[in-house]
Amino acid sequence: MAQGRGSARAGGNGAAVLALVLLCVLLHGEFAESAVYTVGDRGGWTLNSGGWPRGKRFRAGDVLQFKYGRGAHNVVAVNAAGYKSCSAPRGAKVYSSGNDSVKLSRGTNYFICSIPGHCGAGMKMAVTAA
Ligand SMILES: *[C@@H]1O[C@H](CO)[C@@H](O)[C@H](O)[C@H]1NC(C)=O
Repeated sequence: MAQGRGSARAGGNGAAVLALVLLCVLLHGEFAESAVYTVGDRGGWTLNSGGWPRGKRFRAGDVLQFKYGRGAHNVVAVNAAGYKSCSAPRGAKVYSSGNDSVKLSRGTNYFICSIPGHCGAGMKMAVTAA
């Protein structure tokens, strides 16, 4: 009888734990969806933003906000080759509003400023999203 009660209680705990785990998964998913980062924090998107992602954990769906003086810079999403060579592929989307939001996709996302000389001076960034 004691054993029967024990297992009934274990069953109840199991359901509670399962509910908690589900809640955590749901909440976690929601926060992951809504994470918004300002690139470069207060400094914004500048010539030395390349190191900004270091030590941060990004998830697919997170949003990066690039803030900079309109006309001073731009943001182009490129592939690994474009990142290395500082070249934007033909037809690449160029963001230039000075307040551009870009959603991260899974894997490594590469961004450069395509204004001549800027990427070469270090204005490029690789962000890996899990
Ligand atoms: C920049 O864009 C974000 C989202 O698109 C918006 O919430 C914010 O108000 C904008 N900031 C400025 C200074 O325009």
